[in-house]
Amino acid sequence: MDPLNFQRRRQELMHLMGEGIAILPTAPHQSRNGDVLFQYRPDSDFYYLTHFPEPESTMVLAPGRPEGEYILFCREKDQLKEIWDGRRAGIEGAVNSYGADQAFPIDEIETILPKLMENRDKVYTIMGRYPEFDSEIIHAVTQVRNKQRSGATAPGEIVDLGHVLHEMRLIKKKDEIKLMRQAASISAAAHIRAMEQTRPGRYEYQVQAELECEFRLGGSEWPAYPSIVAGGENACILHYTENNCVLNDGDLLLIDAGAEYDCYAADITRTFPVNGQFSGPQKALYEVVLASQKAAIDAVAPDRPLIDYHDAAVGVLTDGLIDLGLLSGERNELIETHAYQPFYMHRTGHWLGMDVHDVGDYKIEDEWRLLEPGMVLTVEPGLYISPREGVDSKWHNIGIRIEDDVLVTRTGNENLTDKAPKEVADIEHLMRHEKAA
Ligand code: GLY
Ligand code: MN
Ligand code: MN
Repeated sequence: MDPLNFQRRRQELMHLMGEGIAILPTAPHQSRNGDVLFQYRPDSDFYYLTHFPEPESTMVLAPGRPEGEYILFCREKDQLKEIWDGRRAGIEGAVNSYGADQAFPIDEIETILPKLMENRDKVYTIMGRYPEFDSEIIHAVTQVRNKQRSGATAPGEIVDLGHVLHEMRLIKKKDEIKLMRQAASISAAAHIRAMEQTRPGRYEYQVQAELECEFRLGGSEWPAYPSIVAGGENACILHYTENNCVLNDGDLLLIDAGAEYDCYAADITRTFPVNGQFSGPQKALYEVVLASQKAAIDAVAPDRPLIDYHDAAVGVLTDGLIDLGLLSGERNELIETHAYQPFYMHRTGHWLGMDVHDVGDYKIEDEWRLLEPGMVLTVEPGLYISPREGVDSKWHNIGIRIEDDVLVTRTGNENLTDKAPKEVADIEHLMRHEKAA
């Protein structure tokens, strides 16, 4: 990554902040059990502004400060600790490799922070995410206040940094789109491998292993969220992650899995037959979901309200449910009364970026916001038919979702994940070919 991109982000943020000071910690290391820690992942906001990958670090932006505007607090180099736990950039590395104007040992933050806050009217920070850090900020503000008699002014306001920063993160720039393409392409290859490797008698976790192996081979550090590999009726559990059941001949397999690449997520769902061939009812429902997904993607374009693509999906799903006899009544009334909800109980998508459910407001002053070039969102309609009274048993336990990652462009949209097959004929062809091999 080009360090200039991060410098540009910091400058844009400082411009939006005016005279205030921004203070942002990264995520703490989390204990897993005993002496074992979870593998470390930095805080998305912190990483977006710094690209600094180490725990125990805090970024400060102090616009106009003569000794330097970008200050990084981080761990010092330590030969013994580095032999045990890995390399550290240290104070010099923070300046030379990560572009900080000044860096200080994290252990000194308590004494330095109040000085940095003096005579700044606002402190921009993230409250509520890391409670220990919230207390540090309040402690620092109090210290400046206690010094007021010697002429220092303490900040009068603590402002939510997310408000400004998350609007920046919502619009992806070229360098971010490049990383998202990479995450998307690794993930699409993994879904293809999963289709190739699925057979009746294999277990969900074995297909998960194939997927995640492809993620890692492609250079992804880990999945962007726990992979959902749900055979048969498990597909009707939206966040199923046990992945421990055998895959049965005649069932569908729903896989919702995406790779993370340099802290950017992909989020793909594909649903396909375990034996490579859709049954009549499976195909009928699948075609409805696919048509609704395509209609929703077509509604992703600049200046269109965000709700349009959800409405497009709901319209096609409702028509399909009527055609198949799963709903009866007048179309518009069924839509208005949300009659589809027993079969489609989630929304059609979400922002995607460094977080799989990425930051950014969905509404502005209570109105659905208009799409803009650079936004990335998922398009993921589905139908889930749990057994219920009045529903023909031929539909029972069929769960289908189809999910792609779509970039809003200047002229319309680009599907970043279209390499993962989703047409019935393409899936059946791919799986037939595999069986023959
Ligand atoms: N994989 C989480 C979601 O689709 O929202
Ligand atoms: Mn998903
Ligand atoms: Mn999603």
